[in-house]
Amino acid sequence: MRTVFWEDRKVKMIDQRLLPGEFVIAEFDTVEGVAASIREMYVRGAPAIGAAAAYGMALAAYRSPATDRDSLLADLRRTKATLDAARPTAVNLAWATNRLLTLAERTILPNVDDLRSALLTEADALADEDVEINRRMGYHGAEIVPEGANILHHCNTGSLATVDFGTALGVVYACHEQGNPIHVWVDETRPRLQGARLTAWELMRAEVPMHLIADNAAGHLMRTGQVDVVLFGADRVAANGDVANKIGTYKVSVVARENGIPVYAVVPTSTIDLSLPSGDDIPIEERGPEEVTYIGESTVAPANVPVYNPAFDVTPHRYLTGIITEEGICYPPFPVSLRRAKQAAEARILAQRAERGKNRRAAS
Ligand code: MRU
Repeated sequence: MRTVFWEDRKVKMIDQRLLPGEFVIAEFDTVEGVAASIREMYVRGAPAIGAAAAYGMALAAYRSPATDRDSLLADLRRTKATLDAARPTAVNLAWATNRLLTLAERTILPNVDDLRSALLTEADALADEDVEINRRMGYHGAEIVPEGANILHHCNTGSLATVDFGTALGVVYACHEQGNPIHVWVDETRPRLQGARLTAWELMRAEVPMHLIADNAAGHLMRTGQVDVVLFGADRVAANGDVANKIGTYKVSVVARENGIPVYAVVPTSTIDLSLPSGDDIPIEERGPEEVTYIGESTVAPANVPVYNPAFDVTPHRYLTGIITEEGICYPPFPVSLRRAKQAAEARILAQRAERGKNRRAAS
């Protein structure tokens, strides 16, 4: 099953807040609902957020009472602003809404209903491409994972963080499918425990050998030779290769470097933001204090304790061995290799779109 999908004119998604205890599909038929689902983390993980936002744009088109193109475009621009504001760090969100809005602005069709269905087709294409891209990253990434490697992984980057298959966990799944007997150390990933709740759940279902570890155990494992490679995803990669990812990623990367362990970020090119020169320019989301003061229903801190809760950190590019994308592995100098990867991906998407158009014309 996909993490996010469209059915009966609704945006549907696995409610990740409830896993692993309950498996519930949440559904939204308003733009505000979709924005709230992103903000409140029913859906999370940069590519999954992007797909939810793309479907949010299609939903806006169907919900809009507009009878002419200009009014529909005005509604879509407002929707984009609402969705983009839901979470600030993952660039895939604005990337996806921008893709849908640009399509609407560039498409001249006889009536607005045709434009509505063109937007839904584009959101479906984006979701399908995400799965294909993840498979490609898995294939490229599997090449750098040694036979029987112990992999350290942070947060959740699997099927749940994407439409399906995953980014860094996609590499893990690819290794597993290829018969590489890898083992994964799963960081629990406080404060929201995406590692314990989601990654452990995914890997156990897929029967990938793993152990859940407290975040604080990672340094000990690296110093004592029990980690061969570190893999994680990213919410935004700046033009110089600095990577914003779940809080704690920086600490893991620094300790890995100290111990001579290779570190790879696994990201679709949609996560690369060439408009930002360095990681210092990436907005870091701050979330509520209850994520730190509670574990589940239990409080673990005194009432009213002051809390600071940044949800992401930036790992400077010097700590990265490489950045694995769907176009291959980018190595330093990242400003050059990331730009090339982005251009290659854009060319491939354009070629695929032209091919789809040709097939549609041939069929009609
Ligand atoms: O706050 P979250 O759970 O949305 O954070 C997710 C991450 O940090 C992931 O590592 C990142 O989005 C890459 S996932 C493919």
